[in-house]
Amino acid sequence: MPISFNETSRIFKLDAGNSTYAFLIEPNGYIAHLYYGGHVDSDAFAYLYRKRDRAFSPAAPGTTNVESRDVILQEFGTNGVGDYHAPSAIVRQGNGHNVTNFKYRSHRIFKGKPSLPGLPATFGKDDEVETLELSLYDEASDIEFILSYSTFDRYSAIARSARAVNHSLETVRIEKLASMSLDFPSDNFDLVHLPGAWARERAVERIPVPRARTVIESVRGLSSHQHNPFFALAAPHAAEEAGEVFGVALLYSGNFAAEIEFDQFDHLRAQIGLNARTFEWKLEPDAVFQSPEALLVYSDSGFDAMSRTFHNVFRNHLIRSYWKDRERPILVNNWEATYFDFNEEKLLSIAKDAAELGIEMLVLDDGWFGHRNDDHSSLGDWFVFESKLKGGLGSLVKKVNALGLKFGLWFEPEMVSRDSELFTAHPDWCLHVPGRGASEGRNQLVLDMSRPEVVDYLFKTISGVLDGANIEYIKWDANRHLTEVGSATTSPDRQKEVFHRYVLGMYRLHELLLQRYPKLLIEGCSGGGGRFDAGMLYYAPQIWTSDDSDAIERLKIQAGTSLLYPCSAMGAHVSDCPNHQTHRTTPFETRGIVALSGTFGYELDLNKMNDGERRMIREQVAAYHQYHHLVADGELHRLTDPFDPKTVVVVWEYVACDKSEALVTMVQPRNIPNGPVYRVRLRGLDAKATYELEGSGERFSGEMLMKAGLNVPDFDCDGAAALFHLKRI
Ligand code: DGJ
Repeated sequence: MPISFNETSRIFKLDAGNSTYAFLIEPNGYIAHLYYGGHVDSDAFAYLYRKRDRAFSPAAPGTTNVESRDVILQEFGTNGVGDYHAPSAIVRQGNGHNVTNFKYRSHRIFKGKPSLPGLPATFGKDDEVETLELSLYDEASDIEFILSYSTFDRYSAIARSARAVNHSLETVRIEKLASMSLDFPSDNFDLVHLPGAWARERAVERIPVPRARTVIESVRGLSSHQHNPFFALAAPHAAEEAGEVFGVALLYSGNFAAEIEFDQFDHLRAQIGLNARTFEWKLEPDAVFQSPEALLVYSDSGFDAMSRTFHNVFRNHLIRSYWKDRERPILVNNWEATYFDFNEEKLLSIAKDAAELGIEMLVLDDGWFGHRNDDHSSLGDWFVFESKLKGGLGSLVKKVNALGLKFGLWFEPEMVSRDSELFTAHPDWCLHVPGRGASEGRNQLVLDMSRPEVVDYLFKTISGVLDGANIEYIKWDANRHLTEVGSATTSPDRQKEVFHRYVLGMYRLHELLLQRYPKLLIEGCSGGGGRFDAGMLYYAPQIWTSDDSDAIERLKIQAGTSLLYPCSAMGAHVSDCPNHQTHRTTPFETRGIVALSGTFGYELDLNKMNDGERRMIREQVAAYHQYHHLVADGELHRLTDPFDPKTVVVVWEYVACDKSEALVTMVQPRNIPNGPVYRVRLRGLDAKATYELEGSGERFSGEMLMKAGLNVPDFDCDGAAALFHLKRI
């Protein structure tokens, strides 16, 4: 039984993979957290329930001095009764007060896991996942919170969420609701998170947790390039292959906050959920509010194992797409090839080359609609730019299909240009605050996705385009963050709901499209990787990782991304040189090797490729077909750290789950003249097996490769790279 409740000790024990989580119903009705860590067989955790009288730690009514909420580790932080840490929820009641005192009411344990209405969530069959719903109740306000815990049998992962139910006769306001709150006893932790910016998303930062409250957040309306809804707490000595690591991700694509607080007694409270700075929800009598889901992952063997657990749970229990386990088509995207300057003839000539080279899909990016020749107009006018694409989309797609290629199309559904028919017809459909105008970002405004009629209009319009031609893929872009987040049809007392309602509307549009076109492949995007989060993976099995397509920069961006997101979700393309973002020139072969680590494609003008480059494209296409199953389904090992200034060669290894083969990629960002000779130790192989290196036919034992290592070639230029394929014989 992965989840059990001991009636005598009143202890809940949750087992997930090789982890255990335990808490107890205190005699006073509160829920005390007891343990989260490596698997423990016994459920005799009661001795961990420690009470102590502390100065300046008040006792809540009906409790004694030794039971202060300030001191006891908890599952659900109360508000205003002596717990001075971040509360799990803040509920403003009709009397103006926000004190709440949630205590145990009931619980139920059942097989499987319910979906969350309107929100992304992990899923699993009855024999894969079990759920505990713990009902907490605040008598004075008549509000109930139901905390949900779902344990995955095969993985050290627990999905958590919370929902509020208003049983009272008055309307209350939820001012904060954490999806999960996690208290740790005295210990030292490092905090690992993924700060970034446009074109340099998800750089890994590791810092000791300070004795202060640290907040990682987005208030930009999207999960953002700047921060990712993820953090990990790691033992100070934890490394890739060793040490305890607790990873937490939020399955949400809008404003989030992760709060990490280290207190006076060295207790640590960590939370993640909707960002209270920009959130409030008016809860009418009998209404229910559901929080987004958080996923907790435990590893007793470093970041490597933490990442693999996230990858497995996301691949098997979050991504739903028809394309989930299918090899994604190799695409060529015309953005960096033509920007806005294309016509049917140019696109067909790229498609013709693509077909000859084995590429499988042409993606037509920005500029095909309205009268868009630059980024000042036409967003919202999702009908073809006739004078640019003379025969229309239908004819273009037919011709592309006739060449043997699939066709994909770019949309930016959530945005509108002032210079558009849509804005002229519905000026109040954009987010704005009356009397204040609306700020522009990339010369565009944001549609009010909280309004059902806006979502319905977009569904109808986009469906019209998809019905008119054989479009099998869409790239869903979003090129600015939200400002003046006001909705014309929302009452003043609900305006603080608009950020969250926006995200719910954006999810609904995805859902509507996927219901109507179940085989549609959606690639998420927000000016590159500005909405690369687990929430989006529920709808889009792949996301454009960054607008920075420079292979050397991508080593870091893809490594940071891989901390929790699987390679099968990372859009990675070979682009032109000098690179359009960094102006760096990198060998063509290296660009291919780096792009093979994701969903593969090209972002360049195929018509300009010389014979050598065309030959290499054919080789890369063949390599993708030969090795992609390892990248998509295998186990990733990051053998060296691109963020470490001492790293000379960045090495990644993918091992088949049955250890029968492995792919190793090595990239040297900068050449060291007359440099040292290196070898790198592989991981995860079958020690007793013999592996043969493709090409040279050299043979090595798995043990040798893991203990002595594989030789790094004598690279002699910046950006040199090599790929090795080992097969068990
Ligand atoms: C930002 C995306 O990340 C690019 O790939 C491209 O689609 C442009 N937007 C188009 O405007």
